[in-house]
Amino acid sequence: MLNLVHDSDCGAPFDCDTRVDDRMSSETRRDTPVVTGPGVIGNGAPLAVDRVASARHDVLMEFFEIMEQTPRKAASELIADILRKSREITRAEAGSIFIVRRDGIGRRLEAASVQNDVLPLELTDFAIPVDTDSIAGYVAATGETLIIDDLYAIPTGRLYSFNAGYDERTGYRSRSMMCFALKNYDGDVIGVVQLINRRGIACVEALPFTAEEKALILPVKRVLGSAIERALMHQHIVDANAALHNRNDELREQRKHIVALQSETEEAFMLAINMLARGAEIHDPDTANHIIRTNQYSYFIAGKLGMSGSFCDEISFSAQLHDVGKMSIDTSVLKKNGPLGPDERDEMNLHPVYGHQILADTDRLGMAADIALSHHEKWDGSGYPNGLKGEQIPMSARIVALADIYDALRAKRCYKPAFDHETARHIILNGDERLDPAGHFDPALFAIFAENHGELAAIWDRFGG
Ligand SMILES: [Fe+2]
Repeated sequence: MLNLVHDSDCGAPFDCDTRVDDRMSSETRRDTPVVTGPGVIGNGAPLAVDRVASARHDVLMEFFEIMEQTPRKAASELIADILRKSREITRAEAGSIFIVRRDGIGRRLEAASVQNDVLPLELTDFAIPVDTDSIAGYVAATGETLIIDDLYAIPTGRLYSFNAGYDERTGYRSRSMMCFALKNYDGDVIGVVQLINRRGIACVEALPFTAEEKALILPVKRVLGSAIERALMHQHIVDANAALHNRNDELREQRKHIVALQSETEEAFMLAINMLARGAEIHDPDTANHIIRTNQYSYFIAGKLGMSGSFCDEISFSAQLHDVGKMSIDTSVLKKNGPLGPDERDEMNLHPVYGHQILADTDRLGMAADIALSHHEKWDGSGYPNGLKGEQIPMSARIVALADIYDALRAKRCYKPAFDHETARHIILNGDERLDPAGHFDPALFAIFAENHGELAAIWDRFGG
C-alpha cells in the first residue's frame, strides 16, 4: 500500500481511500515512479520533493485557471474542461465525469462528460445506480479512490465489476483505470471521475495509473467537486430563470389573449344591451340616436357631479336601458296617438317595474335596473312607481331623469313639437304647466344643468338632433 504522500484535501494519508488492484505488473514497475518513502521516488532515487510540489502547484494553477472562468461557462463546459485537464495531467486516453443526481430517496450517476481520444463519442443519456456493483457506483457510494491496472483482471472478492458492454459495442479496449470521487467542501460525493488507459510516452499498450498521477490530481478533487457543484447550482438558477422568463412570456401572451377575449365579450355585451334598448323603443322615432344621447347626457352630468370614473362608465351604457320595460307594455298603449286614459296611464306607469324585472337578475346591469325602476321618481316624492323622495332615489336614476326630460323636450312627440334648446332650457329651469323643476329635480343636478346646459345642446347637435 502506498501511504506516504498525504492528501492535502482531507488531511488523511493520501491513500487512505485508495484501493490498488493488480498493482505490481512488470510493466507498471518499469513505467511508474513509485513512491517508496518520504523523499524517495521511483527506483530509490531521492524524492524530488521540490519537483512534485512544483508540479502540484502547476496543476492547481491550471485548474484554478479553468475554474476562474466558471461564471462565464455553462456547467457542462466546466465539467468537460476539468475532464480534459485531468486526462492531460494523467495522460489518460479516455475518461468520463458522472454527476450524482437525486432519484427519489435514492441516487444515480448521470454521465456529464465523456471523452475518448481514439473513438469519436457523443454524450448519451445514461445513468448508473449509486451502489457497489459498478466501479463508478462503488466510488460514489464509498468515496474511495480505485486504481485498477487491468479492468479485465479485477481480483476476485471485489464488490464491483467492470462492465465490458461499451468495449464490446465499440471495439475499444479499456485496460487501466483511475476512478475517484468528487466531493464538495462538506465531504458529500457530488460526482465521479473515471480516467481510462494511461498512455506512456512510447508505449502502444495502456499503462496502469501510478502514484504520481494520484499525487498530482487527487489533492484538488474537493476544489474541483465544489467548483462543479457551484457551476451546477448556477446553471440550475440560470435554467430556472430562463424557464421563468419563458413562463412569463407565455403568461404575457395568455394575458393578451384574455384581454382580447374580454374586449370581444365586452363588445358583444354592449351590442346586446344596445339592441335591447333599441328593441324597447322601436315604436319611437329616432330611437337609435335617443339612446345614444341619453347615455352621453348622463355621462356628462355624472362627471360634472364628481362621481367616480367607474360610476360614469357604468351610467354611460346603463342609461339607455331606462325604458326597457316598455317592451312589456301593450302596443296599443305605446302607439296611441293622443292622451292616455286612466287605465292606459296605469299600464304605462308600470314600465319602470317591468324594466327592473328584466334587468335585476344581472349583476352587471345593477345600475341599469335601478335606473329603469326609478327614472320617473321625483325629488319631492310625487313620482312613480314607488313615490321615492330625495336621496331615496338612486343618484343614477336622478341623473337619467334629467337627461331623459331634456331629450324629450328637444324631440318631437305625438303630443308636442320639437323644442329648440333655449325653449327646453327655459322649461327645465322655470317650469311649465307639466313640469315643476323644484319638485322634479335634485337641486344639485338642477344647478349643474343651469350652468352647463350648453354641453347638453352640443350633445344633441352631435348625435343626430
Ligand atoms: Fe320612462
